[in-house]
Amino acid sequence: MKTITDQIPFVDLVNQCDELATEVMPAIERVVRRAAFILGDEVQEFEDKFADYCDTDYCVGVANGTEAIHLALRAVGVGPGDEVVTAGNSFVATTYAISHTGAMPVLVDINETDHNINVDLIERAITTRTKAIVPVHLYGQPSNMDAIRRIADHHGLKIVEDACQAHGAECDGKRAGSFGDAGCFSFYPGKNLGAYGDGGAVVTNDPDVADRLRLLRNYGQRQKNVHSLLAFNSRLDTIQAAVLLVKLPYLDDWNNKRRKAADLYRQQLQNSDLVLPVENIGSRHVYHLFVVKHDQRDQLIEHLQKQQIFCGIHYPAPLHHAEPYSTIRTIPRDLPVCSQLANRIFSLPMFPGITEEQISRVCDALKSFDAPSNGLNVNGAAPKGSISIP
Ligand SMILES: Cc1ncc(COP(=O)(O)O)c(C=O)c1O
Repeated sequence: MKTITDQIPFVDLVNQCDELATEVMPAIERVVRRAAFILGDEVQEFEDKFADYCDTDYCVGVANGTEAIHLALRAVGVGPGDEVVTAGNSFVATTYAISHTGAMPVLVDINETDHNINVDLIERAITTRTKAIVPVHLYGQPSNMDAIRRIADHHGLKIVEDACQAHGAECDGKRAGSFGDAGCFSFYPGKNLGAYGDGGAVVTNDPDVADRLRLLRNYGQRQKNVHSLLAFNSRLDTIQAAVLLVKLPYLDDWNNKRRKAADLYRQQLQNSDLVLPVENIGSRHVYHLFVVKHDQRDQLIEHLQKQQIFCGIHYPAPLHHAEPYSTIRTIPRDLPVCSQLANRIFSLPMFPGITEEQISRVCDALKSFDAPSNGLNVNGAAPKGSISIP
């Protein structure tokens, strides 16, 4: 009889937390013993190390990834009456962050290959009100930043990267987050670099942007009770910074493990009917998510679930289908690629500690999907028996 441990979760945080406990717990204890909970030394230390990691001059820790994008947009001058161009397939936080500045998001369709913003459509979205572009490095692969930089320079626009899924990703050797006027990260626990709660950061090479961010996250004060602008309480907790300081040195190794897992998936699924993710030339994808496509997505997910294998969907609906964005401008109208992909995409289990055996089990289960047509019964694989759990 299979036990609960035979489950293959979509993301496994428990094992990683276990492995790091002897380092993380003392780091948390040091903060607690000093009671240095707000903007303690660890915050600055982490900011310095993460700026180095991203190859940027500055990093400002904030409360979460949504706030990173929101405050970065404000810091580069986006506000009410402006328009901000972004991709139609992202987590809703991207557009919420834009809306929180008072600006209007404008959604552009994505590439069918890497699911990032289709740069050939961006200029059609630009009006006299456009102030910035927010490329989303979706699933851990950078958008086409050369093209985006050319468009932004031509039209005098700011670039704020949503790198919330792309810690350590690169394009032509340059780190995600370092291409634009600001790069925004989430340290939500399941991210490639995750805290033990919420956390976020903005990296930038612009000292004025960094300075404004420090004011925006902390009541607009350089000095206690002196408030120079209308601002927010949106700081990275010292405890989270202490956890992130322990985890940061492991990030490259974890990303390599994700890339190895992606290779194994690719090898084992290459002859199947699944459409596998594309890695662009020059890009170093860090596989926050391993997203595949299939016409019978829902049945496949159910088939895997019966075998205790759990998947995700990123995302089940394009952003203009969310109620707050029902009247949003979309380029082209209704985002045909986003809309069509939303019904076919799903994300296979992916985390640094996933084992070869687990990957083989996922692939065997996928291949045993017994669809009457368009199925995955390649190589004559027999459908696998169902697994009973106690
Ligand atoms: C692409 C993207 N943007 C923004 C966010 C928002 O980050 P957070 O959940 O830390 O606010 C996330 C993560 O959830 C994300 O995946």
